[in-house]
Amino acid sequence: MCMTIAIHSCKGGTGKTSIGINLAAAYSLLGKNVCFLDFDSKATCFFSPFDFKSKKWINDVLFDKCSIMDVINEVDEHDKTGKLHVGLSNPDISAIREISSQDRKWQAHALKMIMNAKRELVSAGMDVIILDTSPGVDFASINAVAASDFVVVLLKPVYSSLRCTENLVNGVYKLLDKPCGIVENMCHESYFLEPVPNERFGIPVLATIPCLCDVAIKTDTQIMTFEEREHPFSESMFNIAGKIMDRLE
Ligand SMILES: Nc1ncnc2c1ncn2[C@@H]1O[C@H](COP(=O)(O)OP(=O)(O)OP(=O)(O)O)[C@@H](O)[C@H]1O
Ligand SMILES: [Mg+2]
Repeated sequence: MCMTIAIHSCKGGTGKTSIGINLAAAYSLLGKNVCFLDFDSKATCFFSPFDFKSKKWINDVLFDKCSIMDVINEVDEHDKTGKLHVGLSNPDISAIREISSQDRKWQAHALKMIMNAKRELVSAGMDVIILDTSPGVDFASINAVAASDFVVVLLKPVYSSLRCTENLVNGVYKLLDKPCGIVENMCHESYFLEPVPNERFGIPVLATIPCLCDVAIKTDTQIMTFEEREHPFSESMFNIAGKIMDRLE
């Protein structure tokens, strides 16, 4: 069975893209055929290892101009038993404006395009599809959440992030009846002095990841799960991957 996992949060900068890419890498190291899709069309993923020459974008799939298979590229540099593919959104300002100005009716059509793309990826043999989203509850993020089998909810362990996430859990995930798990990211060491909860808002906590300066630097230019498998950040990716597989497989 193919698993589709959305990486979402109520606020920006919680680590969605970093964790989405590294979780995708962890699954490929576990032998899975993985596809990471950048559905953050408003702030697309500028990440040097993904500097592909492809001129087809997720935008083209959503506007029904091409197949998802024309968009994805394989990341083949690393020694892994599975495969990692990546599809990106168009970073041009005009493309961002075009997609941002679409109305509700267009977004309903876009959800159909996402479901078609999922079917194509499943037919192509993907085991895991990871959807990176934009923060908050705009139609594009909710489409990605609606198209997923599981949502990884990123939060920072600070009051504003906790309250905002509680709203998201009660106002979106529970209404959509979506299985999800929380990843607390960028935690301070004093935070660990308190017992780390097994769940928040009735949702399991999959991982609690410390705030580490080297992660902030390295995730900008490399896929840490490939480069440093023993690093605590990479180990968290394997833990999250295992817990989601336990829930879905
Ligand atoms: N555990 C961590 N420790 C330190 N820095 C981190 C950690 N996780 C992520 N970061 C850094 O935090 C910044 C924001 O991460 P990232 O871009 O992945 O967040 P995001 O949720 O995708 O943001 P956006 O909402 O803008 O898309 C990046 O510079 C990243 O390297
Ligand atoms: Mg991001």
